[in-house]
Amino acid sequence: MVNPIKGLVLAGGTGTRLRPITHTSAKQLVPLANKPILFYGLESLANAGVTEIAMIVGDTREEVMAAVGDGSLFGLKVTYIHQEKPLGLAHCVLMARDILADSDFIMYLGDNFIRDGVESFVESFSYRTDGTNAQILLARVPDPQRFGVATLDNEGNVVYLVEKPKDPKSNLALVGVYLFDSSIHEAVKSIVPSARGELEITDAIQWLINNGKKVKAHIVEGYWKDLGEPEALLEGNRLVLESIERSIKGNVDESSTLDGRVVLEAGAAVVRSIIRGPAVIGKDAVITDSFIGPFTSVAANCVIESSEVEHSIILNGSRITNIHRLEGSIIGKSVVVAKTERRPLATRLVVGDHSRIDLV
Ligand code: DAU
Repeated sequence: MVNPIKGLVLAGGTGTRLRPITHTSAKQLVPLANKPILFYGLESLANAGVTEIAMIVGDTREEVMAAVGDGSLFGLKVTYIHQEKPLGLAHCVLMARDILADSDFIMYLGDNFIRDGVESFVESFSYRTDGTNAQILLARVPDPQRFGVATLDNEGNVVYLVEKPKDPKSNLALVGVYLFDSSIHEAVKSIVPSARGELEITDAIQWLINNGKKVKAHIVEGYWKDLGEPEALLEGNRLVLESIERSIKGNVDESSTLDGRVVLEAGAAVVRSIIRGPAVIGKDAVITDSFIGPFTSVAANCVIESSEVEHSIILNGSRITNIHRLEGSIIGKSVVVAKTERRPLATRLVVGDHSRIDLV
């Protein structure tokens, strides 16, 4: 019997927000297909048999703690650790030392999404017989300079890691999921802060390699990270919607059609409308005389009337009325978008910071 792997989930960081959606929420709680990114990570840890989690929280801790609670929603026991300043990923390992004890653990960055979960990696690490001390997950990305980047030898061992290189030597990015044995604790104590003032986990892993430890890599598909840009968020939403299953719990009237993989949550109502999946319609949302096209997430309590919406994200409690066609759009919480009949017939906007509006 192997010891169960513990979890270290990072949901801290500063409250610095780059776009309207995260002005009012933690980036780990930005929803993909109506569910916070962080929840997918927690579910995949639970599916992998992890039961005990240490979760690092920072400026946005109240919101994160309100959403995750004691973890029982996911079958997890969560202990929160308040990190006052984001001093780096390796600093998070230092902070969680007592909870992690000498167990193997999986470190998971709460703003990263891995479509196929982490079960197989946790299993292979738990049952390893080759003396591997750490295992990292990598994905091929078009923009490696925004990530930690790995160089591998012919056998898939990691030989070199560098954080956000200007001139990347490969397109293999660290995806923010790491498996460690207890040798990482000595590594995080032995490194010094980087030029950006953080204790870097890449430096700690490089320390392991330089000190004769064995670090393996796995390459994953279906990886997504919150890059803070609207297009990236729409892309993440699309990635999740691509693998949803049809589930109809809400009400659909006789003159409506739901095509393909549509999730209609409890209490939602569809009246004289067409919904073409993949799409999710949240709890108690009402869609009337409208068309909802593929790759759209409509959150709980939204109202969509006499409008067409496709490839978009509409957050909680917003109302879209008489809009001929909305595409590639991200609408925040409790927003009203409506065609006006009011004179003078002008465009009237009340728009938050960093918003973007394309008018036709
Ligand atoms: O997302 C993958 C990348 O994550 C890797 O490719 C990089 O090698 C790794 O260093 C990291 O890079 P970022 O600079 O993008 O990490 P960020 O500062 O955004 O932090 C990642 C998550 O960890 C985020 O949810 C906030 C949380 N965090 C971060 C720091 C620095 C903490 O909880 N505490 C911290 O001190």
